[in-house]
Amino acid sequence: MIVREQVKELVKQYYSWYNEVSLTIHPSCLFSISQNIEEMIQVGEYLQGRKFNCFVELGCAHGGSLWLYSHMLCNPNANIVAIEVNRREDLNFTFEKFRNTTDFKLKWYQSFSHLTTIEENQVDLLHIDAGHTYEGVRNDWNTWYPRVISGGVIMIHDTLAHDGCIQIRQELERENKYNMRTFQAQYPYGITVIIK
Ligand SMILES: C[S@@+](CC[C@H](N)C(=O)[O-])C[C@H]1O[C@@H](n2cnc3c(N)ncnc32)[C@H](O)[C@@H]1O
Repeated sequence: MIVREQVKELVKQYYSWYNEVSLTIHPSCLFSISQNIEEMIQVGEYLQGRKFNCFVELGCAHGGSLWLYSHMLCNPNANIVAIEVNRREDLNFTFEKFRNTTDFKLKWYQSFSHLTTIEENQVDLLHIDAGHTYEGVRNDWNTWYPRVISGGVIMIHDTLAHDGCIQIRQELERENKYNMRTFQAQYPYGITVIIK
């Protein structure tokens, strides 16, 4: 299926659960996909159907991007590692859906992203979307880059929207040694994709 159609279906499926979400989650609008869908589609098209086996997301919030990227970019029985420091009812809800409707092997670390340990050279897809200060993103980059296998893919979100993420992107661009592209749509957040 072409990426755009697949993403459309996934978004529909995710929001079809909206009425099941408990009212303690609803009032604060805590069930949503908070990325620019058009930018996600561009990333999917760029990666040309490549499928990953170990996806780590730093900063999951409600689990919307975890849901989409897992389905768009991972093999059906891939390891999905969710790292989110806050205990969140909305994320638990999304995890339930993962467990009930997919074969992914899902693991949640409730801890700070740069303090979470995981075996080296396991990760083939990494999404950095936790703390958005310069120090936060830099820490995540320094800690997690070595854990990504050669040829693996690293996505950094908000590289056109948040000062800390913009600064990291500019530094990586200046180093001029990464195979990297930044995608943007209307009202961009910006997502930078680096192939290690
Ligand atoms: C921008 S939101 C993530 C959005 C999510 N990836 C999505 O697109 O649906 C950032 C999340 O990172 C979490 N967070 C912030 N700093 C963190 C850290 N150092 N370690 C782990 N999680 C962190 C916050 O609690 C928040 O839920």
